[in-house]
Amino acid sequence: EEARLQQRFDERIDAGEFIEAKGWMPEHYRRTLVRQISQHAHSEIVGMLPEGNWIGRAPTLKRKAILLAKVQDEGGHGLYLYAAAETLGTSRDQLLEALHSGQAKYSSIFNYPTLTWADMGTIGWLVDGAAIMNQVPICRCSYAPYARAMVRICREESFHQRQGYEALLTMMQQGSDAQRAMVQDAVNRWWWPSIMMFGPPDDQSPNSAQSMRWGIKRVSNDELRQKFIDAAVEQAQVLGVTLPDPALRWNAEREHWDHGPIDWSEFKRVLAGDGPCNRERLAARVQAWAEGAWVREAALAHARKQAPKEEV
Ligand code: 3HC
Repeated sequence: EEARLQQRFDERIDAGEFIEAKGWMPEHYRRTLVRQISQHAHSEIVGMLPEGNWIGRAPTLKRKAILLAKVQDEGGHGLYLYAAAETLGTSRDQLLEALHSGQAKYSSIFNYPTLTWADMGTIGWLVDGAAIMNQVPICRCSYAPYARAMVRICREESFHQRQGYEALLTMMQQGSDAQRAMVQDAVNRWWWPSIMMFGPPDDQSPNSAQSMRWGIKRVSNDELRQKFIDAAVEQAQVLGVTLPDPALRWNAEREHWDHGPIDWSEFKRVLAGDGPCNRERLAARVQAWAEGAWVREAALAHARKQAPKEEV
């Protein structure tokens, strides 16, 4: 019976069909999705912290309103993705316990500090730009609830990327020399961590082969990274900033931009918890969880009161 179900599942995946929550799936497929979707959700929630740091210090009311909307979107994306992960039979408490205990990951990029206002535009341009590159293929992920969540999230992400790029364009075109230098400094700090977001090189990616076989990962880490670099180089030229990679050069044969070596030892350090802000980010999340306990208890008590009375 199990072999027949496995064969039917493989046939459906090979036919490009989508698997719904109630459909049979191999335990490893389910566990892979719980890992990826929950870590994606953790990334959205932790990703609110670096930007939240500048909401109270935005230079104008317009920029403050835009940043507030963006951070609120990310909170919503996180909740949306936790709900998608729960369709696989896990509870939100389990997922958050895994984050708070350091057992689950979140995107490496959020372990870097946001030092100036130009970091806000640079995060929108590069970090949300990379996130879109990585998330668009997930709209065709073989697990339907995740694919559906991605469609909605990608629509909001494009606003995130555009508002960041526009803020930088304003600083570069109408700003002072000091503001232009601020943008260049932010680009210097965010460029390499942004291209690391796509994950390790394909030949050092333990999950890629199986995730591509299952239609969870539709495009490889390196291919998405290259696509992002190709787009960002052109955008940097329009902005008038220099990307901090002297080896960047157009390869007419490959029809892609060649780039310098990525420092994977930095990536490994950040993933091991030794990035510039890992401890601060996790402590902020653990503290928020503890401080929010009374809200959760009140909401559950209220829900119990609303529950229909047991028939006597
Ligand atoms: N940060 C942290 N961990 C990373 C990572 C990164 N940038 N890139 C890879 N890893 C981890 C993987 O999770 C895996 O560890 P695990 O097995 O314990 O989970 C390990 O490094 C090896 O990487 P693989 O390439 O083998 O793993 P995957 O096949 O899972 O690929 C991935 C990694 C491309 C990040 C994939 O998991 C993915 O597409 N996830 C969904 C997208 C996502 O999480 N994006 C976060 C971007 S930030 C964001 O969306 C917020 C936005 O608003 C800015």
